[in-house]
Amino acid sequence: MSAITTVEHLSEHVGETVELRGWIYNKSSKGKLHFVQLRDGSGICQCVLLKKNVPEELFDAVGAAGQESSLKLTGEVKADERAPGGYELSVVAGEVIQAVDGYPITPKEHGTDYLLSRRHLWLRSKKQWAVMRVRDAVITGLRRFFDERDFVCIDSPMFTPNACEGTSTLFELDYFDRKAFLTQSGQLYAEAACMAFGKVYCFGPTFRAEKSKTRRHLTEFWMLEPEVAYADLDDICRLAEDMLVYVVRHVLDHRRPELDVLERDISKLEAIEAPFPRMTYDEAAKILAEDEGSEFTYGADFGAPDETILSNRNDRPLMVTHYPSEVKAFYMKRDPADESKCLCVDVLGPEGVGEIIGGSQREDDLDALEKRIAEHELPEGAFEWYSDLRRYGTVPHAGYGIGLERTVGWIAGVEHVRECIPFPRTIYRIEP
Ligand code: 4AD
Ligand code: MG
Repeated sequence: MSAITTVEHLSEHVGETVELRGWIYNKSSKGKLHFVQLRDGSGICQCVLLKKNVPEELFDAVGAAGQESSLKLTGEVKADERAPGGYELSVVAGEVIQAVDGYPITPKEHGTDYLLSRRHLWLRSKKQWAVMRVRDAVITGLRRFFDERDFVCIDSPMFTPNACEGTSTLFELDYFDRKAFLTQSGQLYAEAACMAFGKVYCFGPTFRAEKSKTRRHLTEFWMLEPEVAYADLDDICRLAEDMLVYVVRHVLDHRRPELDVLERDISKLEAIEAPFPRMTYDEAAKILAEDEGSEFTYGADFGAPDETILSNRNDRPLMVTHYPSEVKAFYMKRDPADESKCLCVDVLGPEGVGEIIGGSQREDDLDALEKRIAEHELPEGAFEWYSDLRRYGTVPHAGYGIGLERTVGWIAGVEHVRECIPFPRTIYRIEP
């Protein structure tokens, strides 16, 4: 019996005979030779079957097996610089588990809609594989970053009785004999948790009935939200900066082959270092006013094209602070120096990717908070528990949310967020 291993561990087995278990990604045959690109989920390895070295049955079975046939192959691991990945398997034995004919996704070009309808299979393709592995590393990097800094993970519920980010994007559902909503953000619960645990984060899916069909919007996306007691706007700006530097570094250290598959310009990621440039909304507005490509009007939130203009100006993420309170959420604390602005930050990724993080210092004064809830015409009763946090030991506190798919899109160099989540949900798509 040979040891069973995976493609990503082949370097530890050079000269040994091992078994790989996977699927045929691609295949070419030349007379007495089959070259199988075997895909096992951890990578792709070229496996060479020489007719005289393998049982005839196996040689014929592999010859007849199409793309995505499942098989096990045993052979000697050889280091070979010319082989993609650097190793090759010189096959001596094996078994075709299922011979497949007519796999619907061939290496030729397919339209995105065709592929999205076959997402359950598309995930096996090289590029999608690489993006999902980058996503995995972004998640691990984020969790490690917060764990190393003594944050406690306290997750928020998905069913909620009230809105967090405005009522226009709520998904409403029947919850037994009453109405409930899918959560837009775990923040309000993270605020409660930070008063209990000091430094916390929640991480989970969030839902927005976004009617927009841009490359940046999903109806279901993942968000990680840290919340810190006794922190102000500047503290969380620095936290966000350190976090992004850490995560990019983590991906560079652990997902280099995947970034190569994606043909990502590594130098752009290596340039991500603290400090990040910062500017206020007013300063950003001035830049947009002078830019012919922008239709921005002062006082409004930045549109996607505005964010692109701003984020294209730097090789690092840009932090824009002090937006007009009118365009931001009810819970954001007003700037004592200018009540028309709030103590908030949006982090715009570089290379035109737009907003990846939104955060703020929170309104910690009970009277001011109650006034905002009334101004935003939010149902008062629903926020009683939230107001309690200002009744019992209120302190300055701040936090932010980082959108996972937009962050993955930026780091992996993928245009559209629908390729940055395993099974995307958008206005037009809930299948597969
Ligand atoms: O700026 P947002 O709406 O902030 C909040 O939800 C705060 N409650 C977070 C907090 O302070 N704890 O969303 C945060 C991030 C955005 O910057 C973006 O990256 C992502 O979530 N995001 C989306 N990603 C994909 N599709 C959508 N429809 C998104 N909406 C927001
Ligand atoms: Mg935002």
